[in-house]
Amino acid sequence: MYFDNAATTRMDDRVLEAMLPYLKDAYGNASGRYSLGYEARRAVNEARVQAASLIGAEPDEIYFTSGATESNNIALKNAEGALITSEAEHPSVVNTALYCKSTGRNAAFVKPDVKGKVEPKSLEEAFNNTAAGRTKDGLVSVMFVNNELGTVNPVAELADIAHSHGWMFHTDAVQAAGHIPTDVKSIKADLLSIGGHKLYGPKGTGLLYIKRGVRIPGLFNGGSQERGIIPGTENVAGIVGLGKACEIAKLETSENLRKEKEISSFIKEGLLKTIPGTVQNGDGEWILNFSFRKVNGTSLTLRLDMEGICVSTGSACSLGTEEISHVLRSIGLEKALAEGSLRISIGKYNTMDEAKILVKKIQSLTEELRVFAV
Ligand SMILES: Cc1ncc(COP(=O)(O)O)c(C=O)c1O
Repeated sequence: MYFDNAATTRMDDRVLEAMLPYLKDAYGNASGRYSLGYEARRAVNEARVQAASLIGAEPDEIYFTSGATESNNIALKNAEGALITSEAEHPSVVNTALYCKSTGRNAAFVKPDVKGKVEPKSLEEAFNNTAAGRTKDGLVSVMFVNNELGTVNPVAELADIAHSHGWMFHTDAVQAAGHIPTDVKSIKADLLSIGGHKLYGPKGTGLLYIKRGVRIPGLFNGGSQERGIIPGTENVAGIVGLGKACEIAKLETSENLRKEKEISSFIKEGLLKTIPGTVQNGDGEWILNFSFRKVNGTSLTLRLDMEGICVSTGSACSLGTEEISHVLRSIGLEKALAEGSLRISIGKYNTMDEAKILVKKIQSLTEELRVFAV
């Protein structure tokens, strides 16, 4: 049973089917001036239309990347001026901002509230009270949905604040796309990142939305692919898969969310009401983060794995480092609770029957593990 959809998702069969021809017979280079090349180019163009349609953009505002890490790096490293981001961002934003700071750029990190939400007033304060905020030009980067807590940020309000100071706004929408409407115009984003494998698409694919008129030079020197911003031979099959995943998400997002919320309410109620000392960290609706007092999150995850259930302790990126995740630290969660944290992230393939088994297993395992707690 797979409850780690925030780490990655199972590829939709329809996505695989769409990709297969481009991994086999239609293997042309999209720059080739012959039919095999034109076929690949046509497929890339179609994927661009599908991706643009999911986020309410124009096809020429979509730039295909190797994933959200690349999209975020391009956005932050290429934007002019200072940076303001939050302490609760994914490492591909936090560490990129820290890198930019180490090269002499002004950067400020806003603390989220106890639920992991970046409050508009905290962003205003960063503009008023930090050296970064007093810079003339810059980029605010705040994620749409937190990957560890599931908390949704008021991105449109944050974008308004950034714009009122003459800055640009970027959002990492990796955990939003396919779960909630992710429309660049409602968000008022200048830049937006999406990753394919969180959306039932292939790994190693993603996109950066760059609003028309925004100038971004790119990170690499090379050919003219993706209008020179992301040079290198296109991953045609991957791009086709991402396009198909976007097309499916556009049609099915609202039904997916309805189902995910139903399963999530059941899990929340099952755990919070029946296991004493359980708290939900953040207020996610499809990404759920719980702490169980006197239960070690890693032990619980390993025991669930032995039962054939995949969940995660915090974010997959901090796995293997027994360190408390920077996100849980940023919301001020006490160490004992942070150590007991478990992330359950629901996706479109999960069922209510699975949720019932999950809750039962966590009930019995937390009881068992507490016996050994000091
Ligand atoms: C919010 C968020 N942003 C960015 C990424 C990076 O995605 P990728 O590792 O596919 O580049 C992730 C992956 O976990 C994520 O959850």
